[in-house]
Amino acid sequence: MPDLRLGVLGYGLRGSIARTAHRPGAGARVTALADHDPRARAEAAPAFPGARICTDHRRVVEDPDVDAVLVLTPDHTHADLAREALKAGKPVFVEKPLAVDIESCDNVLRTARETGTRLYVGHNMRHMPVVRLMRDIIRRGEIGAVRTIWVRHFVGYGGDWYFKDWHAEQRCTNGLLLQKAAHDIDVLHWLADGYTERVQALGDLMVYGDNPHRRAPGEPKTDDWYTKDGHWPPHTQRGLNPVIDVEDVSLVNMRLDNGVLAAYQQCHFTPDYWRNYTVIGDAGRLENFGDGPGGAVRVWNSRRSGYRAEPDAEYRVPTVEDNAGHGGADPLLIDEFVRFARDGGLTDTSPVAARMSVAAGVRATESLRTGGTPRAVPPLDPELAAYFERGQTG
Ligand SMILES: NC(=O)c1ccc[n+]([C@@H]2O[C@H](COP(=O)([O-])OP(=O)(O)OC[C@H]3O[C@@H](n4cnc5c(N)ncnc54)[C@H](O)[C@@H]3O)[C@@H](O)[C@H]2O)c1
Repeated sequence: MPDLRLGVLGYGLRGSIARTAHRPGAGARVTALADHDPRARAEAAPAFPGARICTDHRRVVEDPDVDAVLVLTPDHTHADLAREALKAGKPVFVEKPLAVDIESCDNVLRTARETGTRLYVGHNMRHMPVVRLMRDIIRRGEIGAVRTIWVRHFVGYGGDWYFKDWHAEQRCTNGLLLQKAAHDIDVLHWLADGYTERVQALGDLMVYGDNPHRRAPGEPKTDDWYTKDGHWPPHTQRGLNPVIDVEDVSLVNMRLDNGVLAAYQQCHFTPDYWRNYTVIGDAGRLENFGDGPGGAVRVWNSRRSGYRAEPDAEYRVPTVEDNAGHGGADPLLIDEFVRFARDGGLTDTSPVAARMSVAAGVRATESLRTGGTPRAVPPLDPELAAYFERGQTG
């Protein structure tokens, strides 16, 4: 079978997804790429020998040698670029979040439906071994029916990753409850088997807002903007984005449409980076310790007790063959996209769920910027939801 020919829009940090997808002779290869930034284009040329590299995304979208498009650009550009690709009849992979407002999400879904072109949103966490392990434990009934989920996200590299470029600006992300939490709100919805219908949040810019060491507008990021062991504590950060108007701490409460109550907390100035999920059912509780290879999910379900470090069951997070990219999630995500772009069918990721995670994040952001007032999350048009739930057919 010939390779699926991929056109790539945006080759920054997340260019890793394009490199993962480039498997000449093994199902998919990159044949065209567009990025505004000459540095990005220079890096792309040797990574994809023979690919057409250009500045204008339209040349990629309209290229007859492109079968499907990967949208890997900043968040506020996703919806327009995805719609252009869909209108050109090219199946599209869009990075999360699907868009930075609810209306744009709905427009992308509607365009996919109207054009009959396949839409895929890259929520890679649905392919993360730790998430699948938790979901399997829940589905086996080990903790009974899920009643409440509490997620804590310690974003240890927050200063490097989110406060040194466009991520720090509401203009580009709306807020980090979309940019960052869209992943976890989606997983939380998946584990609970429901969508948020009511949300309330508090948040603040507590640490990075006070740091005066900003770059001048237009000045590029320094080469050492990210280091594994450096830049700690946060006040030693240098070269922050000229504009910082997103929150670095957010606390969100959610009620889902099936009655589940959930909480999500995000902090960008912790020393360590990981996510901790606690899921409590009506017959037990699970919690993850570590979220990559070497981590474990522990279950307590046999009896009541005081503090008990020893769980009733412990499951190691499986190590996958290709451990690259988010605990092995990225290669699996690309496998699923390539299969879907070619053949269609159901997928573990879901455009409807992607829209619902953005919708919850948008309303939570509104809540935290208005003193914590509760907000209703609008449901998706049921007819549109049904189209996607059928696997984008009919
Ligand atoms: N799923 C994940 O785990 C994950 C991880 C990191 C980033 N992301 C998402 O991936 C996307 C890209 O993030 P990043 O960190 O790579 O950003 P980045 O800033 O490093 O790279 C974005 C690139 O897009 C280019 N660009 C912007 N507008 C363009 C346009 N109209 N046409 C062509 N190129 C354009 C920029 O020049 C830049 O090179 C974001 O939406 C982000 O949220 C997802």
